[in-house]
Amino acid sequence: MTLNIMDTAKFSSVFSPSTVEQRTKNFADYWLFTQQHGGDLLESDRDLAKKKARLEYFQNNPVRLRKPLENPEVFYRNYVHLKDPVTELDRKTLLLCAIYKFARHELNGIEGAWDVVPDMAHSFSVEDKISRVHLAEEFCHVRLFNEMLVTCGLDKVEWVPLVPWQQFIYRQFPKFPGFLMDAPAFITELMGVIFYFHLYGVIDDVFSDEPEVRDRLKEMLDEITIDEIAHVGQRRNFIGELGIKFSQWMIQPLFALFFKDIPETALLFDVNKMIQEAKDFDYNNVPDFMLEKTWIPTYCQ
Ligand SMILES: [Fe+2]
Ligand SMILES: [Fe+2]
Repeated sequence: MTLNIMDTAKFSSVFSPSTVEQRTKNFADYWLFTQQHGGDLLESDRDLAKKKARLEYFQNNPVRLRKPLENPEVFYRNYVHLKDPVTELDRKTLLLCAIYKFARHELNGIEGAWDVVPDMAHSFSVEDKISRVHLAEEFCHVRLFNEMLVTCGLDKVEWVPLVPWQQFIYRQFPKFPGFLMDAPAFITELMGVIFYFHLYGVIDDVFSDEPEVRDRLKEMLDEITIDEIAHVGQRRNFIGELGIKFSQWMIQPLFALFFKDIPETALLFDVNKMIQEAKDFDYNNVPDFMLEKTWIPTYCQ
């Protein structure tokens, strides 16, 4: 993807200091933003009206591969658990397996949280309301990832739960007190944004022979990335001075642990570069069309 590198740095680090007053104002501002961004919360469907309409647009205007995947059975054999040597997979299969595995982690994380955080009727603080809508938005991302796989002809994908110990961690995580939960929650959002920015480049490369599908995949990814950039700021806004130091410290081990669980990523992505970009993240490389639609805390502007 072409990023707009601005002449002068416009934004400051996502780890910039903030006061309690600034964060309170930013939560109020994010709450206004998120309601107009996603539209009405459709809580029983874990969905949002505007996001639902956007997915339906993609589904009603399908784009498909000119040349179907040669061996879809290789994907189906390896997408939940890698069975073949990773070096034997072709690059399209590798990429689609990596996308599925990333989204599967996301899905398990939010399913664990959805049942634990208060529903909208029992959300009395602005933070609780934000968190409810945030989770609904994450379910929309998994639907978009599923649609990416369908676009590549993979319409028999099942969303399989993670192994029990991983499920246990994801279920316990939302019950942790804020001082333990906020930093990893922030860094996993940042990991999402950095991963998606790298994903654009890999899609360009791997689907260079399929321009319509390449563009459609990136169009769906845009929807997700714009949300995730807003989530980075929102989760950042939960964190004070000490938590920010903890967050910065956590980038390296958390990225390393997460991507180790998705062996495909080692062949497609430069994980060390992603780690460095997370440490340096300041919004200045976010393209203008995304900046117009997303949300950034005032103390990072
Ligand atoms: Fe997401
Ligand atoms: Fe997110």
